[in-house]
Order: sequence, then C-alpha cells, then structure tokens
Amino acid sequence: MKITIIGAGYVGLVTAAGLSDLGHSVQCLESNLEKLAHLQNGAVPFYEPGMQDLLAKVTQSGALQVAGFSKQAVADADIVMIAVGTPTGAKDGKVDLQYIHQAVDQIAPHLSGGAVVATKSTVPLGTTRQIAARIKKINPQLNFAVASNPEFLREGQALYDFRNPDRIVVGCETEWAREKMRALYAHFIKSGVPFVEVDLETSELVKYAANAFLAAKVAFINEIADLCESSGADIAGVARGIGLDSRIGPKFLNPGPGFGGSCFPKDILALSQMGEEYDSPLSIVEAVMESNAARKQNMARKIITACGGDVKGKKIAVLGLAFKAETDDMRDAPSLDILPVLHQAGAKLHCYDPKAMAAAAQLLPFAAMAKDSAAALQDADAAVILTEWAEFKDLDFAQMARAMRSPLLIDLRNLFSPEDLASKGLHYVSVGRPDMVPEPKKRISHG
Ligand code: UGA
Repeated sequence: MKITIIGAGYVGLVTAAGLSDLGHSVQCLESNLEKLAHLQNGAVPFYEPGMQDLLAKVTQSGALQVAGFSKQAVADADIVMIAVGTPTGAKDGKVDLQYIHQAVDQIAPHLSGGAVVATKSTVPLGTTRQIAARIKKINPQLNFAVASNPEFLREGQALYDFRNPDRIVVGCETEWAREKMRALYAHFIKSGVPFVEVDLETSELVKYAANAFLAAKVAFINEIADLCESSGADIAGVARGIGLDSRIGPKFLNPGPGFGGSCFPKDILALSQMGEEYDSPLSIVEAVMESNAARKQNMARKIITACGGDVKGKKIAVLGLAFKAETDDMRDAPSLDILPVLHQAGAKLHCYDPKAMAAAAQLLPFAAMAKDSAAALQDADAAVILTEWAEFKDLDFAQMARAMRSPLLIDLRNLFSPEDLASKGLHYVSVGRPDMVPEPKKRISHG
C-alpha cells in the first residue's frame, strides 16, 4: 500500500521504517528542515537500537522516502498517518494540538478520494473526530475516512515492539476504512496478532488507559518498596510473589526512582484532564501523578540519608541520566528532579550516561559530565545508579570499591544482589531491600 506519514519524530520514523520493511511503499514527510537534512544524510536524530541500520536498508531499497512536505505524496496515499507531537501546552498544561491542526490543514486540500487519515499521535478523546470535521470544512467534496491507530512502542525497544505487537488497535467508523487498516496490518493479522476494532473514541482512550495503567503499576510497586524498607520485607520477593499471579503478571514491577519519559507523565496528566472535562473524576490517575512526583523527591532524600545525612562538599558519582536504558531521551527523566536537590544540598555531581550526556549537559548545567564510569567513580564519596544501563552490570566492583573514597553504592534500579556486592567490598543501598555493608556481612533493616 502507499502510506504517507506526517512527522519524522520518534513515532513517525519508527512506524515509517517498520511499515516499509513490511513491504509497503512509505513516504515520511518532515517539515523541520534541520531534522530533514539530518535524516536525508542517513542519520537518525535520536538513539534507538537498530534504527540506523533499518533506515539505511529501507531508504536504499526505495521502500521509504524521507522528504519535506509534498502535495503529491499526500495525493498518492492510500493512508495518511499523522505522527506529529502532542506536547503538554506551556500556557495551560493541556494537550497542545497545534501540530495536529497544522498537519491537517496541510494535507486536507491534497487528499485523494478514498484516503484514510489515521492518527498515530496520542490524541485526547474526540480529536480524531474533530480532524474529520476540519478536513471536511477544507475539502467538502472529498470522500475520505478517519481512523485512530495508537502506537504502543517503547523507546529503546521500539523495533522489537513494532515487529512483535501484543495487539493492534484501530478505531474506525466505516467498513471500507477498516478494511484498509486491516490490509495495512495484514502481515500481523495473518500471524495471529489480535486486531482490536473499535470506534474512534474507544481507540483514543485505549492508548491513555494503557499508559496510565502501566504508570500505576510502577507507582504501586514503588510505594510497596517503601513499605518494604520500613518493615524489613524484601521487594524482590514481593514482586515475584505477586507477579506470578497471572492476573497481575511479572512485568512493570521493578521499583525505581520514579517513572519518566515523554509519555507516561504527559499522558496521565492529559487523562486526568479528560476526567475533569467529562466530569468523571480519575482519582487513581491523580494519585499516581502525586505519588510519582513525591517519589523523586524521596529518592533525593534517600541518597542524602545514605550519605550520612549530609552531602555538602561530597563527590557523588551518578551513573545513568536518561529516563531509562537504551535511550538518550532526557524528557521527564528522574535525574532532572533528583540531581538539583543534591546540588542544592552542596553535593559535587560527576555524571556518566552512555548515550544521554549531550542532552543532559544542557539540562543539568551544574553537574560535571565524566568521560566514563571510572572517571565519575574516582575518589567519589558515593555512587548512585539512576538508569539501568546493561554496561553498569559489568562494572568491576572490587576495583570500584578501591577507587572510591568511600565505597557506598546507592542503586535505585536494584541491578544487583546485595550479598554479592557486599562481598566485593561495597556498602550497598538499594530500593525496597535491606542495605548491606561489606564486613562483617550484616543486613541492616530500616524498620
Ligand atoms: C511507554 C509505554 O510502555 C509504551 O507502550 C508507549 O507506546 C509509550 O510509553 C508511548 O506512549 O509512546 P516508554 O515511555 O518508552 O513507553 O517507556 P517504558 O518502558 O514504558 O517506561 C516508562 C517509565 O517507567 C520509565 O521511566 C521506566 O524506567 C519506568 N519503569 C518501567 C519502572 O520504573 N519500572 C518498571 O518496572 C517499568
């Protein structure tokens, strides 16, 4: 099929590369000239494992073309997908739909009869229907349909997720448009991926409800981890014990420094606003937001407490800055809330992240960026793991204990076995588990 995608951001580009790899003929249109020049030189403007190679493959084969806006590309398309940003508005904190409106106004005059316009961007309830009305106003004679087709890709695993979807959700109003969306995803439908056909608003809400539910799961396990710390219970056992219940499931039960990223914080805020707008309060969603905001402050306090209640003048090595591993994305990263508190308290921060340092340096100007973990750790009074990068699992801990002024590791991602690290000479503080000091090996309960 001929697919035109508006926006070569994260969602647009991954979707464009993935769909062209499936055999569709895809044009991805980007209006930001700087980003476009970058892409046309074959460079992916963000870090995503596998994307660089896939982009090279599909652009060289001609299956994907990345270009500036083109009327012809819109006119040729069986399906136009809108994949522009829907950020939180700076003024009112509501979802800012200006990029959606710009995209709609741009495409509407050039669409061909029989085209489907699908929203890939995460949009509030009713937006896809409003898009239909906007197109109709601009191009009243056109025979077209709209569809809502949310994406569920995770950063850092986006290509895996694209190729192995748990489900595909499509909201449509007409059978012919549904038929086109089925043809688009025929490859997955044939291999048994559930294809959830619903109406427009239901599809839009699936996206928000999924993200809010996952965020709630993370906030929940973080609060249970706090209770473990106060009571002497162990969160690893609790997570395993509940996760084996098939109604709960083992995923998204890793406690951490609080959730971040470009989606959860923005989407749960938008969902709570929809609750207000429709006079249908979402108190659980609101509690999740509050819990997560408090979490990040509590994590800063936890670090200060582990450092003996005072970090003034102390060198703290920070390992990991991105909101999670395998991405360079700093949007709403917990580091952005936690590190300013440590800085204010007088800590000297020496940070290292395998991919996010360029972005982080702008956002955390008071922190020094180290060239690698070893440089950050040298003579440090404490080390803090904020992001679960695989390379931190391979650190030489005995060497690290020797290099640090005081061998204290505060691991906010629970990457290691406490016993193991204590045996290597580290005083190990993790989340929801008893602290461990090296010799004599002793469990310290917070209770
Ligand atoms: C999330 C959803 O998982 C995707 O399905 C969705 O498509 C995407 O948002 C989006 O709306 O675009 P993403 O933001 O890439 O994906 O990251 P997640 O892997 O979901 O993690 C979100 C946050 O929760 C991260 O800060 C992560 O560290 C945290 N988290 C996750 C935990 O602290 N513990 C866990 O067990 C899982």
